[in-house]
Order: sequence, then structure tokens, then C-alpha cells
Amino acid sequence: MRVVNQLDMAVKKGSVTAILGANGAGKSSLIMALAGQVDIKEGTIEYDGQSITHLSSMERVNRGICLVPEGRRLFKDLSVYENLIIGGYITSKQTSRHNIEKIIGIFPMLGERFKQKAGSLSGGEQQMLAIGRALMAEPKLLMIDELSLGLMPKAVDLCYDVIKDLNHQGLTILLVEQSTQRALQVSDSAIVLESGNTVWQGSSQEARASSSIIDSILGLQKTN
Ligand SMILES: Nc1ncnc2c1ncn2[C@@H]1O[C@H](COP(=O)(O)OP(=O)(O)O)[C@@H](O)[C@H]1O
Ligand SMILES: [Mg+2]
Repeated sequence: MRVVNQLDMAVKKGSVTAILGANGAGKSSLIMALAGQVDIKEGTIEYDGQSITHLSSMERVNRGICLVPEGRRLFKDLSVYENLIIGGYITSKQTSRHNIEKIIGIFPMLGERFKQKAGSLSGGEQQMLAIGRALMAEPKLLMIDELSLGLMPKAVDLCYDVIKDLNHQGLTILLVEQSTQRALQVSDSAIVLESGNTVWQGSSQEARASSSIIDSILGLQKTN
């Protein structure tokens, strides 16, 4: 079944791009295709000037393309530490240790819960762990599916602060969000999908400035 049609998008290095749209629009399918977790039937995906269309998801991770999946998909019976270690499987032990320190610096609560099972964490803490696990692979392009979905407002604020910081440090970010306003605040550009089609694409500044664009985006979401 074709769930995304004729999509043409370019993500600028160092930018934040928001992928918006209602439930079922094709957002997850799109970023799973970019991560190599679902096959595309037509077209090409280029990354850093080279085609990655036929690379496996693991090869894409090796090139720095990492996905924080919708629903986080942590290993719930494993500890926070073990989940982080698994995320760093492509790096050396020494690098993993160094990266764990860095991630605890970003999310201090992960350090406090190091030996706790991932499944015992709150939704917000699990999202932080899922982001931390992805950071263990030292991504250059970080894709996050539904960053804020189901999280308490405080956890959403924290996650967004971290996203902004990571981006300021040079990380390129693709952000799938149903929270349109929030995503437009942090992103440089945005693409809006509806039933697998691109219904709007442009700069987030333009979307923020034009209430009609925002209204139509929100209108799409209200119909769901
Ligand atoms: N494994 C699957 N098999 C069949 N259809 C699917 C599958 N996953 C998603 N879909 C369908 O593809 C469309 C897009 O889904 P998805 O990419 O998950 O949208 P979004 O992330 O925007 O909510 C939906 O119509 C959904 O029902
Ligand atoms: Mg989805």
C-alpha cells in the first residue's frame, strides 16, 4: 500500500525541520523510510551528497542517521544504563562511556535512575532515555517521532529545550509533531502532510507569521 506520495523535500544541514499533519497522514512512514526501516517503492533518498536509498537501517545509523521511534520502543525490562549501552553499539566501549557521561549531563535524571528498569520510568523520562539512546550512536541527523505526544507539560518543555541545545551544537533535526504550534516555534522549515500528500511546505517563520497557514494546518488536525 502506498501511504506517502510524490514527496520532495530537502533538509538543510544544521536545521530543524518539522513534519506536521494529522494522525495517519504518513509522518511515521516518511521518517521510517528515511531511517531505512521501511522500503520505498519509487524515488531516491540522498544524504550528504550520496544515495542511501538502498542502505540498510544499520548502515544509515553508521552514517549518522538515527531515529527516536514513535512510542519510544525502549527495552523496558532492561535498565536505563543497558538501554544506553545498546544505543552505543556502533562505538567503542571507551566512546560509549564518554557519551553516557555527556548524556547524563544533558538529562541528569537518567543518571539518578541508572539501574532502574526503563519500563518503570515516567513517559517523559522514557522519552529522554529514548533520545539519550539515539545520541549514543553519535547522530548527525536525529529524527524524532512524536516528541511531545502523551508527555506532561514540564517534560515537553525539557525535551524541547534539549532539542534546541542539540541543534545549536550543530545537530540536524527532523521533528515529527502533532503539536503544530510548538514545532513551528523551534523549526526552521516545515512540511505538512495529509493522507500521504504534501499540502504545505515552507519556512516555519512564514507559517508562524501567516495565521491562515497555521489555521489550515490546525484545521487538518481538528478533523481527526
Ligand atoms: N504496517 C502498516 N500496514 C498497513 N498500513 C499501515 C501500516 N502502518 C501505517 N499504515 C497506514 O499508513 C498511513 C500512514 O500511517 P503513519 O505513517 O503511521 O501516519 P502518521 O505517523 O502520520 O500518523 C495510515 O493510513 C496507516 O493506517
Ligand atoms: Mg506516527
